[in-house]
Amino acid sequence: MINDEIVPLAEAMISAHDRSIYFGDGVYEAIRYCEGKLFAMEQHLERLKNSLRKMDMLARVDLEQVRRRVDRAVSESAITDALVYFQISRGTALRNHDYSDDWQPSFLLTIRAYNDRREQATVITHPDWRWKGCDIKSLNLLPNVLAKHAATKAGAYEALLVDENGLITEATSSNAMLVKGDVLQTAPLTANILPGITRAFLLGLAGRVGLQVREESFTVEEALAADELIITGTGNEVMGVTHVDGKPVADGKVGPCTQRFHKLLIEAMKGS
Ligand code: PDD
Repeated sequence: MINDEIVPLAEAMISAHDRSIYFGDGVYEAIRYCEGKLFAMEQHLERLKNSLRKMDMLARVDLEQVRRRVDRAVSESAITDALVYFQISRGTALRNHDYSDDWQPSFLLTIRAYNDRREQATVITHPDWRWKGCDIKSLNLLPNVLAKHAATKAGAYEALLVDENGLITEATSSNAMLVKGDVLQTAPLTANILPGITRAFLLGLAGRVGLQVREESFTVEEALAADELIITGTGNEVMGVTHVDGKPVADGKVGPCTQRFHKLLIEAMKGS
């Protein structure tokens, strides 16, 4: 979908002067559509609003129009279990770092069948080279792209990003958390991470899994000493991390809390 038009993928064109091409100047969301329902749509729209506000884009974007476009796209698609991606850029203009205040947003949306999820993941560690605005879901993902490819080259699935203090912030497209004893631990939102919708969902469910929440960053050593290490995200759902840089986490298998969280997430997706 380009703005209000649904077109065949091969015909989906945006201007070469779109600011998303020149500068990655825009924001995005990825939302799960499962059995006819968009999961946590309100939370995604709220996060989008925050991203737009911090990018000085909010005044030009009609959030209800975004909602209508997403609803229309999923209802016209034949896919029942899908990942809906959309981005909103700061419009089209000849290349100039500055922007005029009368820009018009450009909107691009794709829907893909969700069918390639894996149960478990191996990860590498990689320096977190990102900027200080990681709470904004911006199109600028170059450090994430490079770290993800480093993981692939190492035969791993994801990369845990490690900041200059040796603390894990998150992964390239997921949040990271660990279970140790009866504690579910994850980096606080002040640690320059994306406020993941799946992360928030798990923190809300921790009590039902018999865990207390501790929002405190952890090191690679602490991750390796955990009972369970988990990555969470709209694309990955809840995935058990079995190895970090080739070393096993606990017995190198997906743990019971991870499995329970995943089951609860799927139930919520199907029921919401
Ligand atoms: N990524 N951290 C980062 C850096 C992410 O890009 C994502 C999501 C998450 C998890 O957030 P959520 O639970 O709201 O999906 C954490 C999406 C799926 C993507 O880039 O495709």
